[in-house]
Amino acid sequence: MTAALDYPLQRDAAEHARLQTQAAFWSTDAAALFDSVPVAPGWQVADLGCGTLHVAQALLDRVGSAGRVIAIDNDAALLQRLRSDAVDSRLHLECGDAFDSRLRAHSLDAVHARFMAAPCGRLDALLAEVLRLLRPGGWLMLQEPQADSWAIPAAGEAWTRLKQLIRAGFEARGGDFDAGAKLPSALARLPVSAVRMRQVVHTLPSTHPYARLPLDFARSLRPVWRASHLADDSEIDGLVGAIERALTRPGGVTTFTLVQAWAKAQAASSMPITRRTSSVLDPGPAHAS
Ligand SMILES: C[S@@+](CC[C@H](N)C(=O)[O-])C[C@H]1O[C@@H](n2cnc3c(N)ncnc32)[C@H](O)[C@@H]1O
Repeated sequence: MTAALDYPLQRDAAEHARLQTQAAFWSTDAAALFDSVPVAPGWQVADLGCGTLHVAQALLDRVGSAGRVIAIDNDAALLQRLRSDAVDSRLHLECGDAFDSRLRAHSLDAVHARFMAAPCGRLDALLAEVLRLLRPGGWLMLQEPQADSWAIPAAGEAWTRLKQLIRAGFEARGGDFDAGAKLPSALARLPVSAVRMRQVVHTLPSTHPYARLPLDFARSLRPVWRASHLADDSEIDGLVGAIERALTRPGGVTTFTLVQAWAKAQAASSMPITRRTSSVLDPGPAHAS
């Protein structure tokens, strides 16, 4: 089975709209991460599992006229739709596998991935691909969720059950909604230095579009819940109704915890080096890692 078939979320217009809302919501925190590294003019960087290109656009702002951003996703329909807007010659959209990008080894200054290990799992494999792509001294940047803080106080037991189902739905397809909590131990096993982490939680009014994330997940995960016999339609409809009602009451919503991690690939002296050339996207050798 391919990685794409394992993905727990749908790949339709509503899910793409959810990705837009989510990316817009976390944009300030993404900017803080890119400032922390900091991503510099002239860098060649990649965003693995780029979704709606919000991160790629933010990276473009930082790499300047001489830099380049490679944005990789395996959702061909999404990329096709985005391609018409992505007219910047410094932005390269690639339909491919984030876990096996086929870009040249040790050719990039920074590699970013957000919300990839949560739906796809395979955190160690993702990190291995990130490290394979980085030049010695290059920066990895990961952002993953951890669900404990996620709360809708007015929803009571309905939220407890829906959160459990969201975790189970991701898990049923090999994902891990709490991948953020695994970042410290995963990074500790790697040849990296200058490891830094930040955790971010927001509270927001119930009327905020991102407060509806649980409902968006309920729509996107429903086929997985059905197929895995985790919940039937009548239970799901009941939970959705209860959450809808809770969001009309005061009490607000607390987000899941966004765990950001950044670290430097091991220095040249202790790492096998593939010679870096001017472009990581040259046809042929660039894709033959
Ligand atoms: C939860 S979304 C996150 C999107 C984006 N990183 C963001 O934070 O806005 C995960 C993205 O990864 C893509 N994806 C899933 N599996 C993939 C794979 N094996 N290779 C490349 N992209 C993948 C999906 O199509 C989707 O766009």
